[in-house]
Amino acid sequence: MLRILLFLFVVTESTSNRARPNIVLILTDDQDLLLQSMTVMDSVQQRIVDEGATFVNFFVNSPICCPSRSTILTGKYPHNTGVRNNSISGNCSSGYWQKYHEPRSFVSLLKTRANYTNFYAGKYLNTYGDRKNGGVKHVPDGYDWWIGLQGNSKYYNYTLSINGTGRHFTNEYLTDVMKNYALSFLNQQQIQRDPFFMMLATPACHQPFTPAPRHRHKFPDLKVLRTPSFNYSDDNRHWLIRMPPKYLPADVAIMDDIQRKRYQTLLAVDELVSEVVAKLDEISVLDDTYIMFTSDNGYHIGQFVQAWDKRQPYETDLRVPFFIRGPLIKSKRTMYQPVSTIDIAPTILSIAGIKTPNDMDGRSFYKNLVKGIDNKNGDILIEYHGESNLKTIDYRCPWVNDKGVSQCTLESWCKCQDSRNNTYACVRRFAPEVNFKFCKFFDEENFIEAYDLQSDPSELHNIYELLKSNDIGEYTKVINLLEKCSGKVCNG
Ligand SMILES: *[C@@H]1O[C@H](CO)[C@@H](O)[C@H](O)[C@H]1NC(C)=O
Ligand SMILES: *[C@@H]1O[C@H](CO)[C@@H](O)[C@H](O)[C@H]1NC(C)=O
Ligand SMILES: *[C@@H]1O[C@H](CO)[C@@H](O)[C@H](O)[C@H]1NC(C)=O
Ligand SMILES: *[C@@H]1O[C@H](CO)[C@@H](O)[C@H](O)[C@H]1NC(C)=O
Ligand SMILES: *[C@@H]1O[C@H](CO)[C@@H](O)[C@H](O)[C@H]1NC(C)=O
Ligand SMILES: *[C@@H]1O[C@H](CO)[C@@H](O)[C@H](O)[C@H]1NC(C)=O
Ligand SMILES: *[C@@H]1O[C@H](CO)[C@@H](O)[C@H](O)[C@H]1NC(C)=O
Repeated sequence: MLRILLFLFVVTESTSNRARPNIVLILTDDQDLLLQSMTVMDSVQQRIVDEGATFVNFFVNSPICCPSRSTILTGKYPHNTGVRNNSISGNCSSGYWQKYHEPRSFVSLLKTRANYTNFYAGKYLNTYGDRKNGGVKHVPDGYDWWIGLQGNSKYYNYTLSINGTGRHFTNEYLTDVMKNYALSFLNQQQIQRDPFFMMLATPACHQPFTPAPRHRHKFPDLKVLRTPSFNYSDDNRHWLIRMPPKYLPADVAIMDDIQRKRYQTLLAVDELVSEVVAKLDEISVLDDTYIMFTSDNGYHIGQFVQAWDKRQPYETDLRVPFFIRGPLIKSKRTMYQPVSTIDIAPTILSIAGIKTPNDMDGRSFYKNLVKGIDNKNGDILIEYHGESNLKTIDYRCPWVNDKGVSQCTLESWCKCQDSRNNTYACVRRFAPEVNFKFCKFFDEENFIEAYDLQSDPSELHNIYELLKSNDIGEYTKVINLLEKCSGKVCNG
């Protein structure tokens, strides 16, 4: 009798561990990994990094907001989402996106296949809420709580779609407002019982880099990190990087200031994370919850004499933080497995016990993570479509009439941040003794950049001209294949 009771007890115990765990995804905006932004996030460090796994080879498949976010939500490369840039005309939150992709996002699948209660707060896709794509009335499929920011990153004076109704906020700091909604959501009774997914997509640390007043005085002496590629100039790079000026000026106080403000905006995110984790603990669901932390793309400040932005095929822009904690994940684990944004959706689905749909390009890394298997080989595709925009060129810059460039301002010494021919595809390869990048530009020179990151981690030397024709052929073949791949084919 005792034995039967014990047996029953054990069974009940193990089924009370949820079959479908909760999942929290925290997505920051434009947060670098390589310029040390993580050093200011103590709570993320203690509550997520120290308690879980760090993927040190995590890459974005496109170093720009809307395409990258669309990839996160769908598990598909940009060539399969059709999202080319941050405009509706480039499929960002377009009618096509809403009709075709939103019902197939991992969030929709969590709802239809596993009855998750889904919560979203913060920046969605850059043109979300525009009158041309349905306005703030549009709530993407699958969400129960929808707190979506209209338009691009803002910190004050913004409109949120609250379950499809617009509400304007003038003086309330957005990161804090998101936190309050998240806590209200978690305070509901059924959260302790039924599985939920929560996504917190902060505007931080994207421009205009506005910190909360309580953080305005932090890091007074901060200087932007002088990496080996900071203010490093050479002629063996694609056209946009070769554009003048050849060097940064001596006074780059504006860069120090920008990095300081970026760090300050991250302090509010760190508080948000701290309070959400504390709440999960308080309501006794922390042990049943996976928490992921990442960013939509990286960032550069001064590398290769650029100003401050993303959109380039260099490691600063492509590598982002990726941390995950949760049931069965050992603490302080380092994973070297190369993974990228296409893998997030399949991984979240597999945590919820849902098979990866055939049309997703990514692959779940959940099993390897909990089993402690670290597969160190793989190829990752990076795709970017350069933008041009005359409206973003200061009329005092020499290239004021160049219809092919964008974002050339006096404060950044007229160094343009983008151009239409800054369009490229790269393969990032990891294999035994191989840590390589091969990028092909779709410009008038068919320019190629190739870096051996094993011997040259700062990408100072483009070794394309030194490559054997076999290697060039191999990398070209892989890029051509990946650029057209869909579903399982993308994984070799
Ligand atoms: C949007 O994506 C679809 C599917 O890839 C594509 O057919 C369409 O041309 C895209 N629209 C634009 C404006 O890029
Ligand atoms: C975005 O992509 C679309 C489709 O390719 C293009 O028509 C549009 O000009 C692009 N927007 C910018 C700002 O380059
Ligand atoms: C789905 O979840 C809701 C809310 O948590 C719950 O009330 C409902 O019973 C669930 N439905 C099924 C079929 O499990
Ligand atoms: C959003 O809608 C859900 C029902 O789907 C409701 O429970 C929740 O209270 C609403 N949230 C807000 C902030 O109005
Ligand atoms: C708030 O935003 C509106 C446009 O959305 C603008 O007209 C107004 O000047 C802004 N107010 C402040 C204080 O920035
Ligand atoms: C960048 O390099 C140029 C040329 O060496 C130098 O004059 C300038 O002071 C440097 N700027 C910074 C911020 O290091
Ligand atoms: C890139 O575009 C600009 C026009 O914006 C043009 O002057 C330049 O020659 C182009 N370079 C390449 C390599 O295509």
